[in-house]
Amino acid sequence: MIDFKHSVIYQIWPRSFKDSNNDGIGDIQGIISKLDYLKELGIDCIWLSPIYASPNDDYGYDISDYYAIAPEYGTMNDFDQLLFELKKRGMSILMDLVANHTSTKHAWFIDAYNNPNSEYRDFYFFKEGKNGNPPNNWLSFFGGSSWTKENEHSYYLTSFAPTQADLNWKNPQVRQEIYNVMEFYLKKGVDGFRMDVINCIDKKDGLPDKNPEKKGYQFPDDYLLNGPLVHTYLKEMNEKVLSKYDALGLAEGCLVTLDDAMKYTNPDSKGIQMTFHFDISMLGYGSLGKYDFRKFYRFTTSEFKEVTRKWQNAMQEKNGYVGNFLSNHDNKRHLERFGNIELYYLESAKALALYNFTLYGTPFIYQGEEIGMTNLKLDYSEWKDYEAINSVQAMHDMLHVPLSIAKKIGAYVTRDNARTPVQWSNENYAGFSSVTPWIKLNPNYIHINAHDSMIDPQSIYHFYKKLIVLRKSHEALCTGKFIELNKDHKSILCFKRINDEEELLILINLTKQAADITLDEKLDGIELLHNGLDKELRRVMKLAPYEAHIYQLTKKEEKVKVSLHSSKYRV
Ligand code: NOJ
Repeated sequence: MIDFKHSVIYQIWPRSFKDSNNDGIGDIQGIISKLDYLKELGIDCIWLSPIYASPNDDYGYDISDYYAIAPEYGTMNDFDQLLFELKKRGMSILMDLVANHTSTKHAWFIDAYNNPNSEYRDFYFFKEGKNGNPPNNWLSFFGGSSWTKENEHSYYLTSFAPTQADLNWKNPQVRQEIYNVMEFYLKKGVDGFRMDVINCIDKKDGLPDKNPEKKGYQFPDDYLLNGPLVHTYLKEMNEKVLSKYDALGLAEGCLVTLDDAMKYTNPDSKGIQMTFHFDISMLGYGSLGKYDFRKFYRFTTSEFKEVTRKWQNAMQEKNGYVGNFLSNHDNKRHLERFGNIELYYLESAKALALYNFTLYGTPFIYQGEEIGMTNLKLDYSEWKDYEAINSVQAMHDMLHVPLSIAKKIGAYVTRDNARTPVQWSNENYAGFSSVTPWIKLNPNYIHINAHDSMIDPQSIYHFYKKLIVLRKSHEALCTGKFIELNKDHKSILCFKRINDEEELLILINLTKQAADITLDEKLDGIELLHNGLDKELRRVMKLAPYEAHIYQLTKKEEKVKVSLHSSKYRV
């Protein structure tokens, strides 16, 4: 199995990564052409978002054939070549396993839909409606009902888009088909899977209404997420497939709780090795997710610290394991949310990177993050993201939010923000393609691009490189214990990472205001890395906005040794 606790993983969202055949869409040969760039950055493993055949209603997360590569991305030969080129460089790959649902263009669904006696009927959830309404009141992740009409009376469950039909994991044949897909790619040499919304695969028996006393669609959280059989299925998947290939399982634990994360990833439970959690990315969102604007997307630094503390402590105490990320293809780029682009662009990008690379858990980088890419406000007519388009309509229809306001909210949160093409250079089309890309390019590629970042030693890119080297040369950063200091400080996050060999201290001002701190303990140490201001470690310090440091602490025994040799004690 890949050495995931010592790895840095890079997410590629292929459509916008690099276009090699000039059709405006990223592709596999484009990825191959950038492997040296990734290797140079220090990446050990890529997580490749879906490249399988798909009508692209949800850009690959709606698969119509698990065994075919989408023609816009290339061929199976291209994919085999990608594997070969990765292995040649000592790199690994996690494929995206989208197994909660298939596209309604998948052969299973087509047969189930067209033929009432189809053996595939029970692969999905077909159900009679109730009094002219859908079978239950579940709210879809993308807004509106979770059910799509099959005919006048009957519906099928679509927890995301209406063209993504949920698979029935209670049917052992469904599970076996998915295990076959996994084996097909494992035999080719992939190293594991990032499992899309895998904690949704055990739906509540009977699919009952959620909070029936309430009006309107209700988010079916505990009826849909983290059901008791999720772990049973993950165990079975491990037994039947993952363990045979020593492959890694990474759950996309959508709204995963601490207990569930533990259950899925604790080695004793023999399931998978790692999960994402969404608590950082959901800061400022209402309880219904990113289109729930009731908190106005505001959150405090104390909340940010609280979430960090909660996950760090729990995972270590209970032997669970997480992947840490700040950006991905489902959220707008993080600099605007957690940093300050206008006043402290470089400082905050580096401070946040330092945060992500010094926590317990495997650090993930989302494409373009390492060069400080930012969000682009797209006009409604330019949106591509079904989630955004449908959620705006749902806000209007269900909550009576005026369309003009709903569109403003949509523009603020749409996933399109993070999906603009990677900016490789300041040449035409940012070196992504030589024709107009499938989605608008951020015009700031003229000054934010990989080529220039690689030349400038002070760039965000070089800071990421340093962090990766540092993490790999200090075991304490990978596996050491997380101990927080100054918990109640309103702006500064301060923690140690400790193992038997060494103690490191991390100090990060997470705000745009300068802040004073008196450390809970008197500590001595030497600076290993800072994001701009070289500063001696003192008990009382003043940190500029987004100032961040990693110190290596002088251990107590060393201090004794030093004092024994000082003139006072010398005999
Ligand atoms: C999570 C994926 O990351 C997202 O992009 C997708 O829309 C949903 N799952 C549904 O597959």
